[in-house]
Amino acid sequence: MPSRRPARALIAASILDSDLGALADEIRRADAAGADRIHLDVMDGQFVPNITFGWKTIEAVRRITDLPFDAHLMISEPGRWVEQFLDAGCDSITFHVEVDAAQVRPALVRIRDARRSAGLSVKPGTPLGTLDPYRDLLDIVLVMTVEPGFGGQAFMADVAAAKLAPARAWLDPAGAGEVQVDGGGRRETAEAIGREGTDVIVAGSALYRAPDMAAELARIRAIADAARTPTLERAG
Ligand code: DX5
Ligand code: ZN
Repeated sequence: MPSRRPARALIAASILDSDLGALADEIRRADAAGADRIHLDVMDGQFVPNITFGWKTIEAVRRITDLPFDAHLMISEPGRWVEQFLDAGCDSITFHVEVDAAQVRPALVRIRDARRSAGLSVKPGTPLGTLDPYRDLLDIVLVMTVEPGFGGQAFMADVAAAKLAPARAWLDPAGAGEVQVDGGGRRETAEAIGREGTDVIVAGSALYRAPDMAAELARIRAIADAARTPTLERAG
């Protein structure tokens, strides 16, 4: 469970745009390239207009790497399926605050009870204030900087500027828990992300379409870290 803000930005490789026919190799590739996490985008065709994979697939590739598995559930009924994703070996489970409110708190409690990290995500148009009732149960706030559903979309800089630093402060000004940014994370947007003190950068297409994944990942991290340090010094 994340407790302290890490000294550098962590990179979570989203396998959404990888070659899913060679998923095990694609996860090994991210591991070898220096990724800190594997980000797994689960979509049900209801919450978002796309369908990806489910807990059986995650379970099947869990043994490929020791890297933490971050599940990002873009599904309408996370409460119905949370047990399966826990059993599949996810280290963190993040779902969307926009789902039917009755299932939010019980699902977060279940994730915490299983000693995994619990997260909620907000779509670009959803205010951070919707998270207020759940603050005591959150290890992760995942800020979407694209509309959820597809990789390779343009980064919404206005959403990042409006939400990332406030999410960090809201979660815990002392640095506990983590803020993740998802959508359009790449070298061109890493400075804007780093400036806001964001803990985890999800990167999908930027990594999997790069000619040299390790170099690209290092570049994104270096740009984010360089932008982040002065901000933290000013704040501290
Ligand atoms: C979108 C997913 C993202 C996606 C990011 O709904 O949640 O994790 O894979 O892809 P890129 O990095 O290409 O924007
Ligand atoms: Zn995602």
